[in-house]
Amino acid sequence: MTKPIRFMLNDRKEETAGSTGGSALDYIRRTLRLTGTREGCREGECGACTVLLGEPWKGTVRYKAVASCLLPLGELEGRHIVTVEGINRSDGKPNTIQQALVEEGAVQCGFCTPGIVMSLTGFFLTVENPTFQEAVDALDGNICRCTGYKSIQRALRNLCDTYGTRIAQFKKEQQEADSQETNQKESRQWQADRIHLLVEWNILPAYFKDIAPQLSEIGDTGIDAQVSDKERRQKKRKNRVVVAGATDLLVQQPEELKEQELYFISRRDELRQIRQKDNWLFIGAGVTVEEMKRSPEIEAYYPRMPEYLSLVSSTIMRNRATLAGNIVNASPIGDLTIMLLAMDADICLVDGKQRREMPLRDFYKGYKTLDRRKSEIIESVEIPLPRKEWDIRFNFEKVSRRKYLDIASINTAMSIRMDEERIETFHLSAGGVAPVPLYLKDTCANLKGRKVDRETIDYAFKVIDGEISPITDVRGSAQYKRKLLRNLVYSHFLTMFPEKNFDPNYLLSLP
Ligand SMILES: Cc1cc2nc3c(=O)[nH]c(=O)nc-3n(C[C@H](O)[C@H](O)[C@H](O)COP(=O)(O)OP(=O)(O)OC[C@H]3O[C@@H](n4cnc5c(N)ncnc54)[C@H](O)[C@@H]3O)c2cc1C
Ligand code: FES
Ligand code: FES
Repeated sequence: MTKPIRFMLNDRKEETAGSTGGSALDYIRRTLRLTGTREGCREGECGACTVLLGEPWKGTVRYKAVASCLLPLGELEGRHIVTVEGINRSDGKPNTIQQALVEEGAVQCGFCTPGIVMSLTGFFLTVENPTFQEAVDALDGNICRCTGYKSIQRALRNLCDTYGTRIAQFKKEQQEADSQETNQKESRQWQADRIHLLVEWNILPAYFKDIAPQLSEIGDTGIDAQVSDKERRQKKRKNRVVVAGATDLLVQQPEELKEQELYFISRRDELRQIRQKDNWLFIGAGVTVEEMKRSPEIEAYYPRMPEYLSLVSSTIMRNRATLAGNIVNASPIGDLTIMLLAMDADICLVDGKQRREMPLRDFYKGYKTLDRRKSEIIESVEIPLPRKEWDIRFNFEKVSRRKYLDIASINTAMSIRMDEERIETFHLSAGGVAPVPLYLKDTCANLKGRKVDRETIDYAFKVIDGEISPITDVRGSAQYKRKLLRNLVYSHFLTMFPEKNFDPNYLLSLP
């Protein structure tokens, strides 16, 4: 018999025997009748269903805003889920965020408003330095059909001018006091302080201060107990469906998931770390795109990574989507996969006690065909590091119909390490030009040892053209995609070698 799923919902404890693969949205709206959480697209596109998901973390609770339509019920075990009803004030007045939106006329039909309020609450609960621009970015997954966004932005500016500045100031003062007293204050204490501040400013209701002990009373027994039971674990490995962020799975097979045994990657803390060892960066399979975006370890070697990753879906999706999910989904235009191919990444696959490593580029055998047994999970992605932080040139380009919240027509990444004047290592990948996320191995092999000049670039165009096989589809004709990839590769060179002063209009002179 399946154990019930136990969690906190707003200010109370909940328990359900519902299917672990059902969506949290259905449970919230249909079973509990908490209809403040709206149902729009059910595919992660509109943000109307946004809620907060809080998990125990070093004695406090760490929250993020997520789309409940793509949140499997099983993920709630031992966690705190907060709907818009759960951030209302007890006296019935609007809270600080709601009031700011009202004052600027940022609510018209109101369909999107609960989602916007929850994304903004998540923003104040997570972002280190809450500036206006960060607040705008935090709403990149919330669509409003009525306001035209200007009034929403005015409300954001007012909120950030007051509270963003105060949060940044408070943190600075804390750090100064800590460095005088105890050397360094643990970030867990800061998270607890932040919750207290947000309660004081009427952004959160007071019960938030007592969630951490209540979650530890509930524990995290149900799903974990199933996973760690030895006999069941062996059986499960063969039949289970591995679930990470579920941002592909719940879109592609919502009904099937309700019937299957699920294995939640987010329960494995060790798969959620980013660490550096010697000349390798290890990124756990369960690390989310947003965690990668905010990782100082990754940024040290790839300084523009936050900018590239902001082109992947939206904040509420990035808060759940993982890099291993992107790799195994095997979309020929998966953004993370394309970046990782050009970073020359390896993957580590584990099946019980068996473990094997392989270059990511060897993982793809054909359209959605992988070198992976069903019982294997990706444990980590391993990226070789350059000798020095500045020793690598890397660029990612993506063309899609909309800049944000859209999948690519074509995407490509390139990395080069130079040895004096000559190319020492060269890695180029491209999406949307083959049935798989493509590592252009001939181009990579042929460019090694060459100088970076116009002749080399022309030569690269020729080899690339022989390696790709785009098809005509809704995102463009095969011919358009060939030209587009050539433009983007030229853009790699323009961006990575500004000192060469390549002519930006050169391609216009080509047939
Ligand atoms: C609205 C929206 C926008 C999106 N925008 C983009 C975009 O801009 N760019 C982009 O590249 N993608 C985009 N996606 C696709 C998706 O978000 C990504 O592919 C994401 O990285 C998938 O990760 P996940 O953790 O959600 O995977 P899941 O859905 O949990 O899993 C996907 C597949 O991987 C398997 N899997 C997951 N983890 C492991 C593991 N550790 N070992 C073995 N198998 C595993 C699962 O069994 C499943 O087959 C978008 C999706 C949505 C819904
Ligand atoms: S209903 Fe649109 S994102 Fe969930
Ligand atoms: S106010 Fe109507 S959709 Fe935003």
